[in-house]
Formats: sequence, structure tokens, C-alpha cells
Amino acid sequence: MKKKFLIALLLAQSIFTYSQEFTDLAKTPPMGWNSWNKFGCDVSEKLIMGMADAMVKSGMRDAGYNYIVIDDCWQIGRDNSGNIIADPERFPSGMKALGDYIHSKGLKFGIYSCAGSKTCQSRPGSRGYQFQDAKKYAEWGVDYLKYDWCFDEGQDAKSAYKTMSDALKESGRPMVFSICEWGGSKPWEWGEGIGHLWRTTADIRDCYQCTFDWGGLGILDIIDKQADLWKYAGPGHWNDPDMLEVGNGGMTFDENKTHFSMWSMLASPLMAGNDLRDLDPVTAQILMNKEVIAVNQDAKGQQARRFMDMGEYEIWAKPLADGKVAVCFLNRTNTVWNLNYDWKKQTMYFVEEVNIRKQAYDVRDVWEHKSIGNTESKLVKSIPAHGVLMVVLSKK
Ligand code: GAL
Repeated sequence: MKKKFLIALLLAQSIFTYSQEFTDLAKTPPMGWNSWNKFGCDVSEKLIMGMADAMVKSGMRDAGYNYIVIDDCWQIGRDNSGNIIADPERFPSGMKALGDYIHSKGLKFGIYSCAGSKTCQSRPGSRGYQFQDAKKYAEWGVDYLKYDWCFDEGQDAKSAYKTMSDALKESGRPMVFSICEWGGSKPWEWGEGIGHLWRTTADIRDCYQCTFDWGGLGILDIIDKQADLWKYAGPGHWNDPDMLEVGNGGMTFDENKTHFSMWSMLASPLMAGNDLRDLDPVTAQILMNKEVIAVNQDAKGQQARRFMDMGEYEIWAKPLADGKVAVCFLNRTNTVWNLNYDWKKQTMYFVEEVNIRKQAYDVRDVWEHKSIGNTESKLVKSIPAHGVLMVVLSKK
């Protein structure tokens, strides 16, 4: 009897340790760079090595970005034993050497595959080869897998992703698992424990508001689709509203700031999608705003909630560790929002630790990097068209 109890205890303990280790791989939202938004299929080891160098040189690595992820089109076929082969013309040194190079820069190596028989660009997918592929990735030193959903051939999404998750866990190398199923089967309801992040929508487009027949979305529509998903995010399991378009040229300065602020508020993964080798100062200022990144990476791991929806004007709040809270005023309109906000009028009913009616809080503008008053007086500010005011409240 005693022996059985001891075995059960040991088993429970090892399951706990195991799931703790899995969670620890993405205790805060993953940060890095991915090739797709800017380069599409035009990937090569030269490009990836250049991006790794730029990640370090630009200061992005020191700001917290560490995964370098090669998206679709690196793979060209399988050998007679079924091993996946990288395009030898574009990756002549091989994936192991590329992984070693990325690691030598103090960065982590990410790769892409698909749960279907083919990837979205019709390269070989992993269906039927999941365990063999995971083993190969481990040999190459891969730290992160983004796993797509084209050519799914009627598979059940949860089981398909669970198979690859099991394969990664069995490979012996810890890898972050990014579920890219676009939200169709509500991966937020089943993704925790299987993957660390799951896409919630179709692909992002480099625009403030635009929609495409095939489902591509601008940032405003993506933000709207995150509003009800806050309860599914937490350390080790994140909603993924897709990679960043900051710096790709389709949005104004204020729109890019809105994009980056809201992705940070939403505890979204921050995967840059621009060319880091020629980072202009404005883009660098946005992507490396340490105060905004700190909100994204906050240890509490909560996703912001929209607690005031006044049509075109919205207020979102993200509870932070140490009794702080980040608040973001979002102006969806084409004209300036002349804000005159009385902190005491609304309660952030879901932020237990914060009671503005009883306690004064300092209000710090995380874009201007300075205190702009406290919650005892009204907040008077002009918020530009399509822009935000993002602040952090902390006890005075
Ligand atoms: C899409 C995915 C994109 C990108 C692309 C590659 O399905 O959402 O982020 O990975 O495939 O073909």
C-alpha cells in the first residue's frame, strides 16, 4: 500500500515537474524575429545570418528579442529515408551550422513546418513524419517550431497539434511550440499544455484597417478579435494575434505605435517582421521601447481587457505584478481625441489590487518616459488619430 502511494506521489511529482518545465519555456510571451512578413519565400542562410548579426548590433537582443525563426520555404524535399532536406542552394552550410551560428550570437533558433502533407507554400509538411522531423530539429539545435495548418486534409486540429507536441517532447530538446491554426477550431480552448502560443486569426496585413477576401486583417480588426480571449492567456500559454508589421512601411508612426502598444497590452508574442539590417531610428524607437516591452513581459502574464468601450474610443487595462496596472487609451478615429478623463468615474473592476477611489496612483506615460500626473486629477491629453496613450499606474 505504502509502495503504491509512493509510486503515485513520484509520478505526480514528475508530471508536475515536466509540465512546469514546459510552461517555463515561455513563461512570458516569446520575443524574436520571423522571416515571413517581410521576406516571404525569399529565405537563405545569408539572410538569416545577417538578421542574427543585426539582432545583436541593433540592440534588439538586449531589448529581449531572442528567437530567429525561419518561416516557410526552407525545406525542399525528403531523402529516401524520409528525412527532411533543407534547400541546399539557399542553405549550403546546412541547418545544424546555421543553428550553431545563431546560438553563437546568444540567440535561439526557430523553424517552421506544417501539420498537413504540405506547407502553405507547397513544401513538404510534417504529416506522417512528426517524430522523425522533431528528432531532426533537435539534432539541428532548434529551439522553436511554428506549425501551420495548410493541406490539413480533414484532420482534427487538436489531435494533429498534440501529435507534434508529443514528438517535440520526445525529441529530448526543449522547444517552444507555436500553433498556427488561425483560430478556426478555437485553439485557445485546447492549446494549453500542447503548445505555448496559438494564432487567433488569419494573417496580419501591414495596415491599420483593411480586410481581404482570403481573411487577411489589419491591426484594428485583429485587436477586436482578442477582446474576449483574455481568460486563455497566462504564463506558458499565449494568444497570438500574429507577428509584428512595425517598420514594414504600410502604417504611420502613430499606427505602428498603436500596433506595438496593443500587442504589448495583449501579452502577445513580439515577433518582429521587418528587416533588422536597416532599422531606421523611428522603428528602432518603437520596437525597443523598454517600458512598453516591460508591460508585455510582465511576470503576472495577464492579457489586457477592454474595460471601457465608447464606440470609437476605448480603454484597455492590463494588471501587472507588484500591484501596478497598464492602461491604454485607443483612439480608433481619423481625428484627435481630446481626452479629459476622470480616473474616479470608472472602476477597473477586474484589477483587484487597484482601487483608484481609495488610493492615489502615479500616472507614467511609457512613450514619453515621464510621469504625467496622478489619479487624483483629471487626465487631459490629445491622442492623435489612430493613436494611443499608454500609461502605467503605480501606487504613490
Ligand atoms: C500562413 C501563416 C503565415 C506564414 C505562411 C507561410 O498560413 O499564417 O504566418 O507562415 O503561412 O506560408
